[in-house]
Amino acid sequence: MSYKEMKAAAMSFSAAIRGVIVLLMAADVCGQNGWAVSYSPSICALKGSTVEMSCNYTYPVIYKNVQIVIENTFWFTKESNGNYVALKDDTDYSDRVKYQCTEKSCSLKISNVTQTDSKDYKFRFTTNHQSGKYTGSPGVSLSVTDPQVKVNRLDDPTRIQLTCHTDCQLPRPVSYVWLEDETPITTENKNVFLSSFNTTHRYQCAIKGHEDVPSPAVYAPRTTVLSVTPSETVEGSSVTLTCSSDANPAAKYNIYRVNEGQHGQLLRTGPQSVFSSIQVSDTGRYYCTAGNDLGSQTSPSIDINVKYGPKSCSVSVNPSGTVEEGNPVSLTCSSDANPAANYTWYKENKIILTGSKVYHVAVGSEHRGNYVCKAQNQHGERNSSSLFLDVLYAPKVPSVSISPSGDIMEGNSVTLTCSSDANPAANYTWYRGKDKKPMKSNKNLIFNSINSNDSGQYYCTATNTKGQNNSRVNVDVKYAPRSPSVSLSPSGDIMKGSSVTLTCSSDANPAANYSWYKEGEKAPKASGKSFTITNIQNEHNGNYYCKVQNKIGWHNATVTVNVVAVSLMYILIGTIASILLIMIFLLVLISRKWRKSTPPPKPGGNPNNIEQSQGSLSKSQEDLQYASIQFMRKQRDPVYENFTPGKTGTADLEEEGEQNVEYATVKFSQRTENPEPEDDSNALYSVINKPKRGN
Ligand SMILES: *[C@@H]1O[C@H](CO)[C@@H](O)[C@H](O)[C@H]1NC(C)=O
Ligand SMILES: *[C@@H]1O[C@H](CO)[C@@H](O)[C@H](O)[C@H]1NC(C)=O
Ligand SMILES: *[C@@H]1O[C@H](CO)[C@@H](O)[C@H](O)[C@H]1NC(C)=O
Ligand SMILES: *[C@@H]1O[C@H](CO)[C@@H](O)[C@H](O)[C@H]1NC(C)=O
Ligand SMILES: *[C@@H]1O[C@H](CO)[C@@H](O)[C@H](O)[C@H]1NC(C)=O
Ligand SMILES: *[C@@H]1O[C@H](CO)[C@@H](O)[C@H](O)[C@H]1NC(C)=O
Ligand SMILES: *[C@@H]1O[C@H](CO)[C@@H](O)[C@H](O)[C@H]1NC(C)=O
Ligand SMILES: *[C@@H]1O[C@H](CO)[C@@H](O)[C@H](O)[C@H]1NC(C)=O
Ligand SMILES: *[C@@H]1O[C@H](CO)[C@@H](O)[C@H](O)[C@H]1NC(C)=O
Ligand SMILES: *[C@@H]1O[C@H](CO)[C@@H](O)[C@H](O)[C@H]1NC(C)=O
Repeated sequence: MSYKEMKAAAMSFSAAIRGVIVLLMAADVCGQNGWAVSYSPSICALKGSTVEMSCNYTYPVIYKNVQIVIENTFWFTKESNGNYVALKDDTDYSDRVKYQCTEKSCSLKISNVTQTDSKDYKFRFTTNHQSGKYTGSPGVSLSVTDPQVKVNRLDDPTRIQLTCHTDCQLPRPVSYVWLEDETPITTENKNVFLSSFNTTHRYQCAIKGHEDVPSPAVYAPRTTVLSVTPSETVEGSSVTLTCSSDANPAAKYNIYRVNEGQHGQLLRTGPQSVFSSIQVSDTGRYYCTAGNDLGSQTSPSIDINVKYGPKSCSVSVNPSGTVEEGNPVSLTCSSDANPAANYTWYKENKIILTGSKVYHVAVGSEHRGNYVCKAQNQHGERNSSSLFLDVLYAPKVPSVSISPSGDIMEGNSVTLTCSSDANPAANYTWYRGKDKKPMKSNKNLIFNSINSNDSGQYYCTATNTKGQNNSRVNVDVKYAPRSPSVSLSPSGDIMKGSSVTLTCSSDANPAANYSWYKEGEKAPKASGKSFTITNIQNEHNGNYYCKVQNKIGWHNATVTVNVVAVSLMYILIGTIASILLIMIFLLVLISRKWRKSTPPPKPGGNPNNIEQSQGSLSKSQEDLQYASIQFMRKQRDPVYENFTPGKTGTADLEEEGEQNVEYATVKFSQRTENPEPEDDSNALYSVINKPKRGN
């Protein structure tokens, strides 16, 4: 479909997209409603002949209210995406085709057909209506063939039979013509030809009347040649002999070597013989034969002369045997070659030196390995056998690997491996820590179940007879937080309004983070090791737990905060103590009055009496003071009895307890006059101890 046609079709629809769809679906009218093409039958034709095909076509007079007028008619074989190439415009056909068309039929003539013309030929016509276009299917099928000669060897090996045939069904009777070197031979015009054949001649057949299109010729092998590549045959190189000839049917090959005074000796069946490394002994005369059913041919013989490269090549080493690192060594290459060879040195297949007979080096560990020397002159090359140079050297810095790689987790099986390049092979020893405590004499140091105590520096030492070398590795064992310990400060019951600090601590690697939760609450109360609650109230009562977490795991521990109101006991104790103090004070006053009322002692009678009594008074005051202290202690004891006595947890806590006793005594007397809340809190110390002891 031309651009013009497409444009016209597209323009007939308002929507461009819809137009395209309809264009694709309704490009041609279908074979109904009077649209039709009928073709002449399929054709089988001999190559070179001229074929003629024809068709009749019909179309409606009126189509979609339009009176149909034919615009274009053509034959084609090529079409893509609605583009048709008319045979007249097709360079493969243009000068070989002729149309002869009327209003209702069209014929096509193609001259000098070849096998490539074998295909379907279709006819198409277009009209003045944009959708009035039609291609008739399936078209006319053309197959082109030429006669073929088939060669059959009969039971009698000296006789062969030629048969002529074509793929086309030809109109009977068919007469055949046989040609020998393009000249017709008088035969019975049959398709079978039986004769003695001259192996130098070519045979063809043709259909009578089509002598200008004979079959391809059959003939015995000719121009049989044995060739050699490369033409210069150097000892040790790869050489290929190839036999070739011109023959139809294709020839089969044999390659022979001529031994002195003998007939050819079969070297190989097939067109090629390869010497992967040709030797001087392969020097000689060679030929090949090519044969098919029509005959065989022997190639001219060729001479192969393998040139004299170096006859031998060897390496000697001085000093011989193993060499210590740093010592000089000479490798010398010798060969028997004429002309003299030049030399190339290889270590592990890599060129290390060219043009020198001697390789001299002060050896290092890197010189240990296999050496080959190559001797080469213009006739060829030869390699020495390989020489192993053994170099002794002290261990290199060992490399240490930890398996499995990544973080070392407590409880895992972990292997440290030490390896060092050394000759002779090194012995290994593992050491631990700064003091280099020896652990194991082995490449591998294995921890079946590693734990945190195994963290630290490890050293591995590689030792051989030439020296030693070592490496260090740090082992850092990671572990989840240990079970945390929690404490309250101050400990014991907490007075309302006071403050308390909860402290949590745990060992972990990597360092853990801490968070505090109150039982029954989802959200953490605080983070960090310690958590202080100030102005404590009843609602702070309860269990708190601290969660200790690192990337490996977590642990928790619970502590109970017990909030109490100001103790009635204290109020009671305070009141009793105040009354007692007042009573003591009154007693003192009374006793003084009583003394003043007694007559003074006689002068000189007993001068020490007053002092004594004063001294005894002060003593008794002290006693009274003590008594108050004792009292207090006594008061405390019954309180203790309210709890099951137990051992205090740690030395720290015991100390705290003793301090509290002192606070109680000192503050006590003040408290009677000034019962401040601060004092209360100090007094609390003594109270707090109690539940702890009863724990
Ligand atoms: C075309 O029509 C003519 C006349 O009807 C007929 O002789 C001929 O065989 C037809 N050819 C084909 C190919 O149908
Ligand atoms: C026919 O075609 C062949 C090759 O396609 C060509 O060699 C030959 O000259 C042609 N013959 C004629 C008569 O055009
Ligand atoms: C084969 O043909 C050649 C000439 O083409 C002739 O010289 C030769 O003698 C013939 N050989 C036989 C066996 O007929
Ligand atoms: C000699 O040895 C070198 C290095 O290994 C190799 O590249 C080469 O092909 C060898 N030559 C021969 C003739 O074996
Ligand atoms: C060694 O001899 C060969 C053959 O004569 C030559 O091709 C090559 O370049 C020479 N190599 C050196 C390093 O002289
Ligand atoms: C350890 O080996 C390195 C080379 O890997 C070397 O340079 C160093 O001298 C060696 N140390 C000892 C003590 O031999
Ligand atoms: C680490 O060593 C100490 C002292 O030997 C021991 O008490 C402790 O249990 C060890 N820890 C582990 C995790 O084995
Ligand atoms: C290495 O270990 C082997 C076996 O334990 C021992 O015989 C040898 O003497 C050691 N060599 C060195 C250099 O320590
Ligand atoms: C504590 O550590 C864990 C693991 O490393 C992490 O998922 C979490 O978010 C951390 N919490 C805080 C409060 O940093
Ligand atoms: C504390 O940890 C234990 C397991 O170690 C768990 O059963 C318990 O529920 C945890 N307590 C809280 C409050 O998360």
